[in-house]
Amino acid sequence: MLTADAPLPAALRADILALAGAELHPRGAAVSALRLVQARFRWISTPHLHEVAALLGMSADDLDGVATYFNLLFRKPVGRHVIMLCDSVSCWIMGREPLCAHLCRTLGIQPGGTTADDAITLLPTVCIGHCDHAPAMLVDGALHGDVDATTLDHLVAALKEQR
Ligand code: FES
Repeated sequence: MLTADAPLPAALRADILALAGAELHPRGAAVSALRLVQARFRWISTPHLHEVAALLGMSADDLDGVATYFNLLFRKPVGRHVIMLCDSVSCWIMGREPLCAHLCRTLGIQPGGTTADDAITLLPTVCIGHCDHAPAMLVDGALHGDVDATTLDHLVAALKEQR
């Protein structure tokens, strides 16, 4: 099984080099390369960040600056599914807090945590541009608006059924 400590697979390294080769400067492939790593390992470990930085001819610090700038790139382990609940102003006004409390109770975790079965990670996020349908969230990158407790319960049940 591939772990976050294992070297990047040769095919993945080749894909990253191909992305880098298509750019005017290899660092132009930074986000795409990190997304490839995350797609394979769910998150970007420090050893993998160092490997990607070397492939792109960047310092690890520079690449970490890119990785930590984008909140859809994860620098810590996450579960198989990630719920990102908006915590910006429109969602607050429209009841994001009680919704978050409901979700925390349902999952048995706090924001930033992952369920014991490694199924779901709950993360707060800044505005995701769906304010007219607040409260809003991303579930594995898919946008959901006008979220209520019933919607959440159905989503969580569906996620837990998926492996
Ligand atoms: S404030 Fe939540 S989507 Fe904009």
